[in-house]
Amino acid sequence: MKKIVIHGGRRLMGTVEVSGAKNAALPLLCATLLCPGEHRLGNVPDLRDIQTVLQLLETLGATAVNDQGQVRVNADQVVSVEAPYDLVKTMRASVLVLGPLVARLGQARVSLPGGCAIGARPIDLHLKGLEAMGAEISLDHGYVEARAEKLQGATIYFDIPTVGGTENLMMAATLAEGTTILENAACEPEIVDLANALNGMGACVRGAGTDTITIEGVEALQPMDYQVMADRIEAGTFMVAAAMTQGDVLVANADPDSLEAVISKLREAGAEVSLGDDGIRVKGPQQIKPLQIKTSPHPGFPTDMQAQFMAMLTLAKGTSVIAENVFENRFMHVCELQRLGSKIRIDGKQALVEGVDQLLGAPVMATDLRASASLVLAGLAADNTTEVSRIYHLDRGYERLEEKLLALGADIRRVSVDAS
Ligand code: EPZ
Repeated sequence: MKKIVIHGGRRLMGTVEVSGAKNAALPLLCATLLCPGEHRLGNVPDLRDIQTVLQLLETLGATAVNDQGQVRVNADQVVSVEAPYDLVKTMRASVLVLGPLVARLGQARVSLPGGCAIGARPIDLHLKGLEAMGAEISLDHGYVEARAEKLQGATIYFDIPTVGGTENLMMAATLAEGTTILENAACEPEIVDLANALNGMGACVRGAGTDTITIEGVEALQPMDYQVMADRIEAGTFMVAAAMTQGDVLVANADPDSLEAVISKLREAGAEVSLGDDGIRVKGPQQIKPLQIKTSPHPGFPTDMQAQFMAMLTLAKGTSVIAENVFENRFMHVCELQRLGSKIRIDGKQALVEGVDQLLGAPVMATDLRASASLVLAGLAADNTTEVSRIYHLDRGYERLEEKLLALGADIRRVSVDAS
């Protein structure tokens, strides 16, 4: 087991390049199941979740080779339609094989993902959409079974703009008979990335990035050849790190269009954010200003940036209010931030963060992916030493985070848990 040890108080300075987006790469890799042939996907981040989805593709019969982020998937032989519990329980995005398998092979057997640290995260809207397209859905001992001779185009209204549900049904609809319209669809940039890749495969997807997506089914698709977009959440994490350490960091390959809410809130907090052809530059203020934050589906403030902003706001001059409106249990970083001397009170969906002058380094424990990023950020600003354990959570979504922070001047290293 490893932990991250941080000696806080260093200002972050310099340039950082973010990796490919985890939340784009995962659905893109699942989309390779839509057709036989040799698929190529570049700029794939080196993450535990990526290893898991490649393992899942191989379980289904595809072959996957990852050559330092240039991934080749041969999906000629899909010999199984079952996504097993032991894989799905470690990574719920495995449910994104559901749409491609039913679309290409007419059946799928995918373990229900179960809950996760941040919430129940059901997939009822995925299943409701597949049923609307003519699939027969049944539950069998913890597995979802979906069958369809041939999916039919349908108009599907999402009660909640679900990212995964939009992705699953967009992929399923590419090979359906007729036209599918997804209404109240999620608008996240990762969905646009997936639509662009699908259209490159010969699909006909229109309106991705808006709340209405139209997909004309086609007879067959060709193998993917695509580059994953830059990770906007990793970029946002570095931007917050600069803001809360009075730093000056250029995030070289960040796309400002995917980070409008984050940029706006960092400026409101007093950071100087400049947008250039070379990326997004963030200069941290001497004093962070308090904020009101409400997470919501894109283009609202991203829930995946809530924990990172909370870390920053523990040092604001005044009290901030953070409302987590997307997931029901995404405040698990609060108890650990309190160990570092922050003053946070949870009131239902809201966290009231009363700024303090200084965080005090201490051992803390990661509970989920973005919570672990939040604790690393807090450690960068805290005095003395902060040790973050259970960093396998961090490795799910951040590629070499401590190396990138070290290059920006942080005093940070990954050590074995039993190291003094
Ligand atoms: C994706 O999860 C991301 N994961 C999450 O990122 C992100 O937080 C989330 O979208 C919201 O932006 C990937 O892309 C792999 P949802 P997803 O379906 O698709 C409810 C990270 O840290 N819902 O948009 O699972 C659900 O319970 C991760 O990188 C239903 O009720 O999110 C939640 O409250 C965490 N029924 C809300 O909708 C459904 O059928 C949003 O979930 C589906 C969802």
